Amino acid sequence: MIELLLDLTSLQQGIIAVIAVLLFLVLTNRLTTWEYIVPKEVQWIDRPQERFGYLRAKARSFFVMKENIMQAYLECNKKGRAAALAIAFGRPQIILPPKYIRWIIDQPESVLSMDPIHNEFHAFVQDGLVGDHTVQEVLRKELTQNLGRMTADINDEIVDALNAIWGNSPEWKMIPLKDSTRTIVARITNRLFVGKEICRNEDYIRDAVALGMAVMPETVFQDLVPRPLKGPLSLVVKWINHYYMAGFNRHLQPIVRERVQAVRQMEETVEKKGEESEENPEQKPSSLPNDFLTWIVQRAVRRGESPADIEQRVIARVGMANLASIETTTNTMSKCLADITTLGEAQGYRALVTAEAQKVLCDCQNLPVKKDIEKLVHIENALKESLRLAVVFPGLIRQVTSPTGATLEDGLHLPCGARISVAAYAIHRDDNVWPDATTYNPARYESPQAPTDQTTAKVPSSHLPMSRASESFLSFGLGKRACPGRFFVTDELKLLFAHMFTKYEIQIIPPPTSTAGQFTELTLRGPQEHLLIRRRSEANSVNA
Ligand code: HEM
Repeated sequence: MIELLLDLTSLQQGIIAVIAVLLFLVLTNRLTTWEYIVPKEVQWIDRPQERFGYLRAKARSFFVMKENIMQAYLECNKKGRAAALAIAFGRPQIILPPKYIRWIIDQPESVLSMDPIHNEFHAFVQDGLVGDHTVQEVLRKELTQNLGRMTADINDEIVDALNAIWGNSPEWKMIPLKDSTRTIVARITNRLFVGKEICRNEDYIRDAVALGMAVMPETVFQDLVPRPLKGPLSLVVKWINHYYMAGFNRHLQPIVRERVQAVRQMEETVEKKGEESEENPEQKPSSLPNDFLTWIVQRAVRRGESPADIEQRVIARVGMANLASIETTTNTMSKCLADITTLGEAQGYRALVTAEAQKVLCDCQNLPVKKDIEKLVHIENALKESLRLAVVFPGLIRQVTSPTGATLEDGLHLPCGARISVAAYAIHRDDNVWPDATTYNPARYESPQAPTDQTTAKVPSSHLPMSRASESFLSFGLGKRACPGRFFVTDELKLLFAHMFTKYEIQIIPPPTSTAGQFTELTLRGPQEHLLIRRRSEANSVNA
């Protein structure tokens, strides 16, 4: 064979090389495609008949995702039909008309679930945690129930993070919008997850941020690789992520170890000496910190998780909670800040927000409680409006888990493994759902003539609080799998904005216009807006 190759002319060798490359590409196309999972009767969007059409449509979707969602909605969903979209990462999505929203959220996990999709994103944190719902359970129950008690901690961390990251200088300075907000958000979130000491450790915060930013590009890359190579590649990805998790381990292991011991001791004492302790309060074990870490450790201990790996599993769960929260919150906050300082400025809404923030923080002497956060209604409206317009993906993404598939009322059969969703981006921009839908207008939530929710015909969506999901406000999803962090993030962002607008003068400098700007919405990297900020002189004199 080698002799034969040596005998060939360079032209022949070139032809053989081209044929080999083409064969490889054809094979790659066949092996990577999930195209077959879309039922034949569903219309594809932006998928003309062309060579490597599916892969090309996937690549294009990086740049035209929003346009494709809009087209799917207008051409198909509005006429009651489903549409199929190639997505840059993951399987194609079958976008269902809004009339199926209720059907989607009512299905049991054995028919539709988001777990297989989550697993693609963060299974690597620890294999044993595939399908683990501890983080979701703790956020839904303990965190939401205890949120009022957490206001002082949230406020304390906001004040400290702003001083450290935005600074106290009365001179104008320029800082990157997303990078600076990401660090602030990571600190506040981790104050709740793991406490004051660790959340102020710069190395730990750097690892938490880096882990979140690595996941999306890795998922895109893994998805583009032919299926037989996915296994070996995922080993490489896991190895890379171990690097970030090593940082988590280094910082968290001592406090997790201590907390596991304290929880075990407490559980044993309560079980064995409960009555005795009641009679003799002196013998009661010292109480545990009432925080996220204690709650996940308590669940792990009560569930009898193996002492051999309980610490690693708890740390991996902290990693998962970070993955779910940092980028989502950073994106929302950056978008809202950019909206208020540009569009909101022109409408006088920024002045309204600033005056409200100053009054609320001044009245409570910068020590707000939950009731003070509730008074920040203009800020909540601004956040809600930016969240409505910020959605760039389809919403309610679920995978058909039933081995026999699922059939819609119009007879469309969705096979096991198919991914479905609804066109949240387009629903949020439909004038029939939100009058003058594409205009940024936080005041719409204040108007007594606010539109009724067309899809539910119940309480107008415009009068619901930001954390209340509805069929026309899908930024946090809907139903039993709706975002469990939405109550916390509402309080966090409202308070953060109140401090920012009270203490700083803020101007925004847009990034250079380029296609890379669109790309970053999906990849989290690239050109970003900058902020010009300076501390208001009066802010340095108050208790802040
Ligand atoms: C503004 C910021 C945020 C936005 C826009 C957001 C949005 C979402 C959305 C759209 C979903 C999917 C819901 C569905 O399909 O029905 C989701 C799920 C989730 N979110 Fe958030 N989220 C945010 C902040 C947070 C925070 C701060 C946390 C943690 C404290 C968090 C934890 C989670 C978790 C754990 C899930 C998965 C729920 C499940 O598996 O049942 N999110 N989020």
